[in-house]
Amino acid sequence: MTEEIQPIRGMNDVLPAEIGAWQHLEAVTRELLSSYGYEEIRVPVLERTELFKRAIGEHTDVVGKEMYTFTDRGGDSLTLRPEATAGIVRALISNRMLRGQRHKLWCLGPMFRHEAPQAGRYRQFWQVDVEAVGCPGPDVDAELIALSARLWQRLGLEGLKLEINSLGTPESRRAYRARLIEYFSQHEARLDADSRRRLGGNPLRILDSKNPDMQELIAGAPLLTEHLDAASSEHFEALGRMLDGAGVRYDINPRLVRGLDYYNRTVFEWITAATGAQNAVCSGGRYDGLIAQLGGEATPAVGFAMGVERLVALLVAAGGTPPAAHPDVYIVVSGARATAEALAIVERLRGERPRLRFELNLGGGNFKAQFRRADRSGAPLALIIGDDELARGVLGVKPLRVESGQSECPIDALAAGVDRALATLGSG
Ligand code: HAM
Repeated sequence: MTEEIQPIRGMNDVLPAEIGAWQHLEAVTRELLSSYGYEEIRVPVLERTELFKRAIGEHTDVVGKEMYTFTDRGGDSLTLRPEATAGIVRALISNRMLRGQRHKLWCLGPMFRHEAPQAGRYRQFWQVDVEAVGCPGPDVDAELIALSARLWQRLGLEGLKLEINSLGTPESRRAYRARLIEYFSQHEARLDADSRRRLGGNPLRILDSKNPDMQELIAGAPLLTEHLDAASSEHFEALGRMLDGAGVRYDINPRLVRGLDYYNRTVFEWITAATGAQNAVCSGGRYDGLIAQLGGEATPAVGFAMGVERLVALLVAAGGTPPAAHPDVYIVVSGARATAEALAIVERLRGERPRLRFELNLGGGNFKAQFRRADRSGAPLALIIGDDELARGVLGVKPLRVESGQSECPIDALAAGVDRALATLGSG
């Protein structure tokens, strides 16, 4: 036998049995975002490698270790997007959409990171990414967070916890970085290998370490919130007041630093206890410097992205997915003339009743086999197209889920006959 081709590790197929939960999540999200005035944007999956290096930062894990980067046939270094923010900002600049204008945008699609795959962490994963561009104040941060809280409510997800923090300005962050390097250098012997590597490049990420042996040291580290500039403190306090006012509960986590370099001021993360180590389902923050850093007009912005696989897992666990759709009518076909004419009859019905689902028996089979399929399809009603019936200008009509005999319906009044039959069955 020919050897089968293996899937790529960490890249999942979403099968028809799982797609209902995905579509439900997408539909609810789409409607909510639109009701808050967000518009969809679609950007390429591939961008120049330089974009992510400049936006996300050379010292981050994402750029340093996780990007799918290759040279294309023209000799350009390209990268499969590890996240959506950089591409969206690039698109705003390329399409000359800034010029003091505001944009509220969202984007859905696959992202790619070469991480070690485990439950909830994949190499291709989907994000819903939401960005508000052009507003500097805490009101946008607060509304974005309220929007995400409302999404959990609409999806019926409980037990998600919100953590917020402020990273201040690039200057206050730089000063804090120096303090951290000083602190961790004093305790270098107690650092694990990962943290030692981060010390020179990205010491803030040491605070993110999950290593239990590091926790005591991290607990003693200076806090960023103690080094905030006055304007950032004010921004953060105003955000807290607005969230309080809107009834959104949160914890301040002074060690929340995020893994991408473009953030300043507000950062936040929604976490769950349910998905094990990969507990962040939605995270983001403000990135006031990024647009200028990528060559656009200096424009403040804030956004977040949520991990679709992680949310789908929560949704399924909570039983919050709608039941799978089934056909309204299954069409059983018997005889040579019926086989030849069935498609024309069903197509006419489909034209007349665009809201109904008609499943035409394909691939033949005897009566018994076809009724078995009809049964399995979940349809409440079967239509029977047989040569005898056709000769008399009628079709057979048979309810499938209730004890009831077969009746007949004239072919030239079929749509009305189907309506009546479905109505007496309480469906359609
Ligand atoms: P991020 O925290 O890197 O932020 O990712 C956002 C979310 O994507 C995470 O909270 C998680 O749910 C999901 N996620 C990340 N990596 C994986 C993975 N390997 N497998 C499954 N899910 C994953 C960003 O990407 C920023 N661009 C968010 C943002 C938008 N900030 C401002 N605007």
